[in-house]
Amino acid sequence: MSTKGSMGSQIVTDPPKGTRDFPPEDMRMRTWLFNNFREVSRLFSFEEVDFPMVESEELYTRKAGEEIVGQLYNFEDKGGRKVALRPELTPSLARLVLQKGKAQVFPLKWFAIGQCWRYENMTRGRRREHYQWNMDIIGVPGVEAEAELLAAIVMFFERLGITSKDVGIKVSNRKVLQAVLEKYEIQADNFAPVCVIVDKLDKLPRDVIESELAKINVPSEAIDGILKALTLQSFDDLEALIGAESGAVGELKQLFALAEGYGIQDWLQFDASVVRGLAYYTGTVFEGFDKDRKLRAICGGGRYDRLLSTYGGLDTPACGFGFGDAVIVELLKEKKLLPKFPHVVDDVVMALEDSLKIKAAGVAAQLRKSGRVVELVIEKGKKMRW
Ligand code: HAM
Repeated sequence: MSTKGSMGSQIVTDPPKGTRDFPPEDMRMRTWLFNNFREVSRLFSFEEVDFPMVESEELYTRKAGEEIVGQLYNFEDKGGRKVALRPELTPSLARLVLQKGKAQVFPLKWFAIGQCWRYENMTRGRRREHYQWNMDIIGVPGVEAEAELLAAIVMFFERLGITSKDVGIKVSNRKVLQAVLEKYEIQADNFAPVCVIVDKLDKLPRDVIESELAKINVPSEAIDGILKALTLQSFDDLEALIGAESGAVGELKQLFALAEGYGIQDWLQFDASVVRGLAYYTGTVFEGFDKDRKLRAICGGGRYDRLLSTYGGLDTPACGFGFGDAVIVELLKEKKLLPKFPHVVDDVVMALEDSLKIKAAGVAAQLRKSGRVVELVIEKGKKMRW
């Protein structure tokens, strides 16, 4: 189709770098993916919520040195308010829980599917906007909550035909690091910055990590202790290092025992090196990864019992995960598990001559009322052969 327009110069037709259009074929895939997110959440009895795409910037400007803060799409709105496009959903969720206050019946089991914005360096599966499926449980202090979340993630993988040969979930607990810091009498304020720094161990050389830790006044014997804790392979080694008091080992053992109950133990592996890069996690942390190690993390989450109090509320037990829409599609392509998404109609209605057009509209209307998907041929001059 051509239209004679004004003499304006041709605009750039690509979407802004790192963002996507969703033409019909991609939109069908997205809808399929989201339907699976929704269906798993429904089977776990979670309720859907959503939040604004634009939030107050202060919701995100935590001071622990997280990458996500430097990646904010932030600006001043016309009223002079400092706002940001949401880079994740968890702060909004915490804000809403705080706003609704005690009127709510805990635990809350909420899920959301929303677009998030981060000014990232682009790599495979990492872009500047992505959709995230989140499931969060607010008000349950025990690892029974984490177990539910992990079971939901596994159910999602299984629905898509992914097995534990393709994907694993690494699980650890930040209380391990907390115990190490306490052993060396390092201030509690340093806990989040230490976690954020050591999360970069697989991206940065060890000496860079060490000097970053030194910069925030972590003494060198504590640095050794921290880095050693991250290499431990078994619960026994962990217990030998930090003792039983911290609760970390007990929580991990209990979580793995529950996983057996759910029948998801093959998917989980203890990996002390998983810390995660967000400041607010306080306990269990986990990350889904592809076993061929070709892709970035598929999903990630953990326990964040103190996030609400950093916003001025009371400490409230909470845990959840975020699961992006980009890496999973890469994985499905790799594994040849991505279904075809044709545009499907039940009936085509076509007036064979102009005089029948009004009747054809009536036939289409009737069929549609009965629930059939009808393509009514509305363009002129279509031949029957078509
Ligand atoms: P996150 O690890 O930053 O956690 O992100 C969760 C997931 O979102 C990642 O594993 C990945 O699938 C996807 N994701 C993140 N950034 C990008 C990107 N630039 N491009 C494509 N996909 C991306 C959080 O956001 C936490 N708020 C999750 C959470 C919820 N924790 C507790 N509740």
